[in-house]
Amino acid sequence: MKSFAPGKIILFGEHAVVYNRPALAVPVDQVQVDVEVLDSDQPGVWIHAPVIDLQAELSTLPPNHPIAAVILTVFQRFGISTFPNINVKIDSTIPVAAGLGSGAAVSVALVRALAGFLDQAISNHDVNSLVFETEKLHHGTPSGIDNTVITYNMPVYYLKGKPIETFKPGKPFTIVIGDTGVPAPTKESVGDVRRLWLRDSNRFETIFNEIAQISTMARHFIESGRPELLGELMNQNHEFLRQMTVSSPELDVLVYAARKADALGAKLSGGGRGGNMIALVEQAEAESVAAVLMSAGAKRTIITEIK
Ligand code: MEV
Repeated sequence: MKSFAPGKIILFGEHAVVYNRPALAVPVDQVQVDVEVLDSDQPGVWIHAPVIDLQAELSTLPPNHPIAAVILTVFQRFGISTFPNINVKIDSTIPVAAGLGSGAAVSVALVRALAGFLDQAISNHDVNSLVFETEKLHHGTPSGIDNTVITYNMPVYYLKGKPIETFKPGKPFTIVIGDTGVPAPTKESVGDVRRLWLRDSNRFETIFNEIAQISTMARHFIESGRPELLGELMNQNHEFLRQMTVSSPELDVLVYAARKADALGAKLSGGGRGGNMIALVEQAEAESVAAVLMSAGAKRTIITEIK
Protein backbone atom coordinates (compact mmCIF):
# COMPACT_ATOMS: atom_id res chain seq x y z
CA MET A 1 0.00 0.00 0.00
CA LYS A 2 1.40 3.38 -1.06
CA SER A 3 0.71 6.86 0.16
CA PHE A 4 2.25 10.30 -0.22
CA ALA A 5 2.19 13.72 1.45
CA PRO A 6 3.36 17.16 0.25
CA GLY A 7 5.62 19.70 1.95
CA LYS A 8 4.24 22.98 3.30
CA ILE A 9 5.10 26.61 3.89
CA ILE A 10 3.60 29.09 6.28
CA LEU A 11 2.65 32.30 4.47
CA PHE A 12 1.71 34.36 7.53
CA GLY A 13 1.38 33.97 11.28
CA GLU A 14 4.02 31.42 12.38
CA HIS A 15 4.73 31.52 16.13
CA ALA A 16 1.72 33.79 16.78
CA VAL A 17 -0.40 30.74 15.82
CA VAL A 18 0.90 28.93 18.92
CA TYR A 19 -0.81 31.73 20.92
CA ASN A 20 -4.24 31.30 19.32
CA ARG A 21 -3.77 33.79 16.50
CA PRO A 22 -4.69 32.85 12.90
CA ALA A 23 -2.05 31.74 10.41
CA LEU A 24 -2.09 30.85 6.72
CA ALA A 25 -0.26 27.83 5.31
CA VAL A 26 -0.19 26.20 1.88
CA PRO A 27 1.00 22.82 0.58
CA VAL A 28 4.12 22.68 -1.59
CA ASP A 29 3.81 19.77 -3.98
CA GLN A 30 7.21 20.26 -5.65
CA VAL A 31 8.53 18.15 -2.75
CA GLN A 32 6.91 15.12 -1.16
CA VAL A 33 7.19 12.04 1.02
CA ASP A 34 6.31 8.59 -0.36
CA VAL A 35 5.60 5.67 1.94
CA GLU A 36 5.07 2.07 0.87
CA VAL A 37 4.04 -0.76 3.21
CA LEU A 38 4.64 -4.30 1.91
CA ASP A 39 4.40 -7.85 3.27
CA SER A 40 7.78 -9.19 4.35
CA ASP A 41 9.31 -12.70 4.63
CA GLN A 42 11.37 -11.60 7.60
CA PRO A 43 9.71 -11.42 11.03
CA GLY A 44 9.18 -7.92 12.35
CA VAL A 45 8.27 -4.40 11.28
CA TRP A 46 11.22 -3.20 9.20
CA ILE A 47 11.68 0.48 8.54
CA HIS A 48 13.80 1.65 5.60
CA ALA A 49 14.26 5.41 5.48
CA PRO A 50 17.48 6.12 3.56
CA VAL A 51 16.98 9.92 3.69
CA ILE A 52 17.52 9.90 7.44
CA ASP A 53 19.91 6.95 7.32
CA LEU A 54 17.49 4.68 9.16
CA GLN A 55 17.26 0.93 8.61
CA ALA A 56 15.84 -0.72 11.72
CA GLU A 57 13.31 -3.10 13.19
CA LEU A 58 10.57 -1.40 15.19
CA SER A 59 11.33 -3.08 18.55
CA THR A 60 14.94 -1.81 18.46
CA LEU A 61 13.80 1.84 18.37
CA PRO A 62 12.77 3.83 21.44
CA PRO A 63 8.94 4.07 21.54
CA ASN A 64 9.13 7.87 21.28
CA HIS A 65 11.23 7.75 18.11
CA PRO A 66 9.14 9.88 15.68
CA ILE A 67 8.61 7.05 13.17
CA ALA A 68 8.21 4.26 15.75
CA ALA A 69 5.69 6.42 17.63
CA VAL A 70 3.52 6.84 14.53
CA ILE A 71 3.56 3.10 13.76
CA LEU A 72 2.77 2.15 17.37
CA THR A 73 -0.03 4.73 17.55
CA VAL A 74 -1.61 3.38 14.36
CA PHE A 75 -1.42 -0.23 15.60
CA GLN A 76 -2.95 0.83 18.89
CA ARG A 77 -5.69 2.83 17.18
CA PHE A 78 -6.76 -0.23 15.19
CA GLY A 79 -6.35 -2.68 18.08
CA ILE A 80 -3.46 -4.60 16.46
CA SER A 81 -1.56 -6.43 19.20
CA THR A 82 0.22 -9.04 17.04
CA PHE A 83 2.27 -6.90 14.68
CA PRO A 84 2.35 -7.94 11.01
CA ASN A 85 5.65 -8.81 9.24
CA ILE A 86 6.13 -5.81 6.98
CA ASN A 87 8.60 -3.57 5.22
CA VAL A 88 7.90 0.15 5.56
CA LYS A 89 9.75 2.16 2.90
CA ILE A 90 10.00 5.91 3.35
CA ASP A 91 11.37 8.14 0.59
CA SER A 92 11.35 11.90 0.70
CA THR A 93 12.39 14.87 -1.38
CA ILE A 94 11.45 17.28 1.43
CA PRO A 95 14.62 18.68 3.01
CA VAL A 96 14.79 17.83 6.72
CA ALA A 97 14.62 20.62 9.34
CA ALA A 98 14.08 23.24 6.67
CA GLY A 99 10.65 24.43 7.80
CA LEU A 100 8.92 22.53 4.99
CA GLY A 101 7.13 20.12 7.32
CA SER A 102 9.18 17.02 6.51
CA GLY A 103 8.39 15.35 9.87
CA ALA A 104 4.65 15.96 9.65
CA ALA A 105 4.64 14.80 6.00
CA VAL A 106 6.37 11.50 6.90
CA SER A 107 3.80 10.96 9.66
CA VAL A 108 0.77 11.74 7.45
CA ALA A 109 1.92 9.46 4.62
CA LEU A 110 2.86 6.72 7.10
CA VAL A 111 -0.52 6.78 8.86
CA ARG A 112 -2.38 6.55 5.55
CA ALA A 113 -0.16 3.80 4.11
CA LEU A 114 -0.42 1.69 7.30
CA ALA A 115 -4.18 2.18 7.58
CA GLY A 116 -4.52 1.15 3.92
CA PHE A 117 -2.33 -1.92 4.46
CA LEU A 118 -4.49 -2.90 7.46
CA ASP A 119 -7.65 -2.41 5.33
CA GLN A 120 -8.89 0.31 7.66
CA ALA A 121 -10.68 3.42 6.45
CA ILE A 122 -9.36 6.58 8.09
CA SER A 123 -10.79 10.08 7.72
CA ASN A 124 -8.68 13.21 7.28
CA HIS A 125 -9.84 14.29 10.71
CA ASP A 126 -8.45 11.10 12.28
CA VAL A 127 -5.17 11.21 10.31
CA ASN A 128 -4.73 14.78 11.49
CA SER A 129 -5.34 14.05 15.16
CA LEU A 130 -3.13 10.94 15.18
CA VAL A 131 -0.28 12.88 13.61
CA PHE A 132 -0.77 15.80 15.99
CA GLU A 133 -0.27 13.46 18.94
CA THR A 134 3.12 12.37 17.59
CA GLU A 135 4.12 15.93 16.57
CA LYS A 136 3.91 16.84 20.25
CA LEU A 137 6.67 14.31 20.98
CA HIS A 138 9.27 16.17 18.95
CA HIS A 139 8.00 19.75 18.87
CA GLY A 140 6.95 20.41 22.46
CA THR A 141 3.97 22.75 22.02
CA PRO A 142 3.08 22.67 18.31
CA SER A 143 0.02 24.60 17.15
CA GLY A 144 -1.03 21.78 14.81
CA ILE A 145 -0.80 23.92 11.65
CA ASP A 146 1.86 21.71 9.96
CA ASN A 147 -0.04 18.43 10.25
CA THR A 148 -3.30 20.17 9.25
CA VAL A 149 -2.12 21.75 5.99
CA ILE A 150 -0.29 18.56 5.02
CA THR A 151 -3.22 16.26 5.87
CA TYR A 152 -5.75 18.35 3.93
CA ASN A 153 -3.32 19.27 1.14
CA MET A 154 -5.06 22.61 0.59
CA PRO A 155 -4.44 26.24 1.61
CA VAL A 156 -5.48 26.50 5.26
CA TYR A 157 -6.52 29.37 7.51
CA TYR A 158 -5.64 27.92 10.88
CA LEU A 159 -6.79 28.93 14.31
CA LYS A 160 -5.87 26.49 17.07
CA GLY A 161 -8.80 24.49 18.43
CA LYS A 162 -11.23 25.84 15.79
CA PRO A 163 -12.78 23.87 12.90
CA ILE A 164 -10.43 23.76 9.92
CA GLU A 165 -11.02 26.40 7.26
CA THR A 166 -9.53 25.89 3.82
CA PHE A 167 -9.44 28.79 1.35
CA LYS A 168 -9.07 29.29 -2.38
CA PRO A 169 -7.02 32.09 -3.99
CA GLY A 170 -9.14 34.32 -6.23
CA LYS A 171 -6.07 34.55 -8.48
CA PRO A 172 -2.96 32.32 -8.48
CA PHE A 173 0.32 33.80 -7.23
CA THR A 174 3.96 32.79 -7.26
CA ILE A 175 6.27 32.25 -4.32
CA VAL A 176 10.01 31.62 -4.42
CA ILE A 177 11.27 29.60 -1.45
CA GLY A 178 14.91 30.07 -0.47
CA ASP A 179 16.62 27.63 1.88
CA THR A 180 19.39 29.01 4.10
CA GLY A 181 20.76 25.46 4.49
CA VAL A 182 20.93 26.11 8.24
CA PRO A 183 18.77 23.58 10.13
CA ALA A 184 15.74 25.30 11.69
CA PRO A 185 15.61 24.42 15.41
CA THR A 186 11.82 24.77 15.64
CA LYS A 187 11.44 23.29 19.11
CA GLU A 188 14.12 25.66 20.43
CA SER A 189 12.74 28.79 18.74
CA VAL A 190 9.19 27.99 19.90
CA GLY A 191 10.56 27.49 23.45
CA ASP A 192 12.52 30.76 23.34
CA VAL A 193 9.47 32.71 22.18
CA ARG A 194 7.55 31.20 25.10
CA ARG A 195 10.22 32.33 27.57
CA LEU A 196 10.27 35.85 26.11
CA TRP A 197 6.46 35.99 26.15
CA LEU A 198 6.41 34.94 29.81
CA ARG A 199 8.92 37.66 30.64
CA ASP A 200 7.24 40.44 28.65
CA SER A 201 3.74 39.27 27.86
CA ASN A 202 2.32 42.75 27.11
CA ARG A 203 4.85 43.40 24.38
CA PHE A 204 4.47 39.93 22.87
CA GLU A 205 0.68 39.99 23.02
CA THR A 206 0.78 43.27 21.09
CA ILE A 207 3.08 41.72 18.46
CA PHE A 208 0.82 38.65 18.18
CA ASN A 209 -2.23 40.93 17.73
CA GLU A 210 -0.49 42.83 14.92
CA ILE A 211 0.38 39.54 13.25
CA ALA A 212 -3.21 38.31 13.64
CA GLN A 213 -4.38 41.40 11.74
CA ILE A 214 -1.80 40.76 9.03
CA SER A 215 -2.97 37.15 8.59
CA THR A 216 -6.61 38.20 8.47
CA MET A 217 -5.94 40.90 5.86
CA ALA A 218 -3.76 38.52 3.87
CA ARG A 219 -6.54 35.94 3.64
CA HIS A 220 -8.88 38.68 2.41
CA PHE A 221 -6.44 39.86 -0.29
CA ILE A 222 -5.79 36.27 -1.41
CA GLU A 223 -9.45 35.29 -1.63
CA SER A 224 -10.45 38.52 -3.37
CA GLY A 225 -7.79 38.02 -6.07
CA ARG A 226 -5.38 40.80 -5.03
CA PRO A 227 -2.25 38.82 -4.12
CA GLU A 228 0.04 41.69 -5.15
CA LEU A 229 -1.02 43.40 -1.91
CA LEU A 230 0.56 40.59 0.13
CA GLY A 231 4.12 41.83 -0.39
CA GLU A 232 3.91 44.69 2.09
CA LEU A 233 2.20 42.42 4.63
CA MET A 234 5.05 39.90 4.27
CA ASN A 235 7.60 42.62 4.96
CA GLN A 236 5.68 43.72 8.06
CA ASN A 237 5.30 40.13 9.30
CA HIS A 238 9.05 39.59 8.89
CA GLU A 239 9.78 42.67 10.98
CA PHE A 240 7.62 41.31 13.82
CA LEU A 241 9.38 37.92 13.57
CA ARG A 242 12.72 39.74 13.89
CA GLN A 243 11.44 41.45 17.03
CA MET A 244 10.51 38.00 18.34
CA THR A 245 14.19 36.97 17.81
CA VAL A 246 13.41 34.16 15.39
CA SER A 247 15.13 35.58 12.30
CA SER A 248 18.86 35.05 11.71
CA PRO A 249 21.61 36.78 9.71
CA GLU A 250 21.28 34.14 6.95
CA LEU A 251 17.50 34.59 6.72
CA ASP A 252 17.79 38.39 6.71
CA VAL A 253 20.38 38.33 3.92
CA LEU A 254 18.04 36.28 1.70
CA VAL A 255 14.96 38.33 2.61
CA TYR A 256 16.69 41.64 1.79
CA ALA A 257 18.27 40.23 -1.39
CA ALA A 258 14.84 39.12 -2.63
CA ARG A 259 13.33 42.54 -1.96
CA LYS A 260 16.21 44.25 -3.73
CA ALA A 261 15.70 41.91 -6.68
CA ASP A 262 12.15 43.17 -7.22
CA ALA A 263 10.25 40.64 -5.15
CA LEU A 264 6.97 42.25 -4.01
CA GLY A 265 7.78 41.24 -0.42
CA ALA A 266 9.69 38.63 1.55
CA LYS A 267 9.80 37.05 4.99
CA LEU A 268 11.11 34.06 6.86
CA SER A 269 8.73 31.09 6.91
CA GLY A 270 8.22 28.53 9.68
CA GLY A 271 10.11 28.28 12.96
CA GLY A 272 13.01 30.51 11.80
CA ARG A 273 16.65 30.89 12.96
CA GLY A 274 17.38 28.83 9.85
CA GLY A 275 15.28 26.93 7.34
CA ASN A 276 13.44 28.83 4.65
CA MET A 277 12.37 32.29 3.62
CA ILE A 278 9.70 33.05 1.02
CA ALA A 279 9.38 35.83 -1.53
CA LEU A 280 6.27 36.92 -3.42
CA VAL A 281 7.11 37.54 -7.09
CA GLU A 282 5.50 38.26 -10.44
CA GLN A 283 5.56 34.95 -12.27
CA ALA A 284 7.92 36.30 -14.94
CA GLU A 285 10.46 37.34 -12.27
CA ALA A 286 10.51 34.00 -10.41
CA GLU A 287 13.61 32.54 -12.09
CA SER A 288 15.64 35.72 -11.74
CA VAL A 289 14.71 36.18 -8.05
CA ALA A 290 15.63 32.51 -7.45
CA ALA A 291 19.01 33.12 -9.12
CA VAL A 292 19.62 36.19 -6.93
CA LEU A 293 18.81 34.10 -3.83
CA MET A 294 21.31 31.45 -4.90
CA SER A 295 24.05 34.04 -5.35
CA ALA A 296 23.13 35.53 -1.95
CA GLY A 297 23.84 32.15 -0.32
CA ALA A 298 20.66 30.05 -0.61
CA LYS A 299 21.39 26.31 -0.72
CA ARG A 300 18.34 25.62 -2.89
CA THR A 301 15.26 27.36 -4.16
CA ILE A 302 11.78 26.14 -5.06
CA ILE A 303 9.34 28.08 -7.22
CA THR A 304 5.74 27.29 -6.37
CA GLU A 305 2.42 28.57 -7.64
CA ILE A 306 -0.33 28.97 -5.04
CA LYS A 307 -3.71 28.19 -6.60
C1 MEV B 1 6.32 25.77 12.44
O1 MEV B 1 6.10 25.36 11.09
C2 MEV B 1 5.34 26.85 12.79
C3 MEV B 1 5.43 27.41 14.20
O2 MEV B 1 4.40 28.38 14.32
C4 MEV B 1 5.27 26.34 15.24
C5 MEV B 1 3.87 25.77 15.29
O3 MEV B 1 2.92 26.39 14.81
O4 MEV B 1 3.73 24.66 15.85
C6 MEV B 1 6.76 28.11 14.43
